[in-house]
Amino acid sequence: MFDKLNSIISEASKVFILTDENVAPFWLPETEYWLGLKNAVEIVIQPDEKHKNLQTVQRIWKTLMRHHADRNALLINLGGGVITDLGGFAASTYKRGIKFINVPTTLLGMIDAAIGGKTGIDFGGGKNQIGTFAEPLGVIVNPVFLQTLDEREIFSGLAEMLKYGFIADANLLNVNLENYQQHIARCDEIKREIVATDPKEKGLRKVLNFGHTLGHAIESHCLTTDYPLLHGEAVTLGMQGALWLSLKQCGLQGSVLQNFENQFPMLLSEAEVQLSEADVDPIMNYLSFDKKNKGEKPQFVLLEAIGKPIWDVEVDKDLVRQAMRYVIQKVSCR
Ligand code: GLY
Repeated sequence: MFDKLNSIISEASKVFILTDENVAPFWLPETEYWLGLKNAVEIVIQPDEKHKNLQTVQRIWKTLMRHHADRNALLINLGGGVITDLGGFAASTYKRGIKFINVPTTLLGMIDAAIGGKTGIDFGGGKNQIGTFAEPLGVIVNPVFLQTLDEREIFSGLAEMLKYGFIADANLLNVNLENYQQHIARCDEIKREIVATDPKEKGLRKVLNFGHTLGHAIESHCLTTDYPLLHGEAVTLGMQGALWLSLKQCGLQGSVLQNFENQFPMLLSEAEVQLSEADVDPIMNYLSFDKKNKGEKPQFVLLEAIGKPIWDVEVDKDLVRQAMRYVIQKVSCR
């Protein structure tokens, strides 16, 4: 990879590196040194999901223009899922697309967001409503970045690891703070295999959204409150809802949900989750933004058993409401 990387960098007409204010002090100079970048133009944006929007993309486009970036320019996205989604989107639309490389600095980025070619920004109140499918020229996974992650960020990544456990490999259902590093490569392998079969999410790739239908709705809603959740925290809640629905609608064994509920307190131990009955309606409204929907009824990825996901499952809204209430009750007494 490093030989390929050196030639990508040396062949670029100009190199830009995008990161955020949290990552920059720790890793920007180090990464520039390590990648041998001498004159890269640095673009440092404000962190977090609330800046994953069109305004930030415009700022990136303007910087590219001001520095006369042409079609042969390269953008290196150094950061978590917000940076790789946003940077990938800016790069894939600027002059109809320039090259980009993802250097994920979070666990969640390393195992999910940075790989697979989905780019996007939040728009109109919904997550990832505008975006493209565009493959980075490379993804550099370097576990050294995990040193500066706090536990909350690690737990957020562990939720996505468990997702791979539910949809593809039961060994991943035992991940924890001690052993997660040894499972990163397996998660990447699962994701790459699924994406290779269905890059544009016509069918199979939808299984990667297990827990994300409710999860995205909860995440979008919580972003409008004083208690925003990290993506993996919202996915934790979403997976609990999806497991409960799988039990009701697809014959999933109750023990799968029970086992997950034992991990649930750990996954949310650093999160401040403030959800009550009053949040059910707003969350239900956000469900209508879900890109998987075809008609009125929300479409879910559910499980028949561990490793047996099914997608495009229509679920009655009343049942979804009950699932949401179940999740809220479990969160309240964890
Ligand atoms: N994060 C889900 C996907 O890449 O398809």
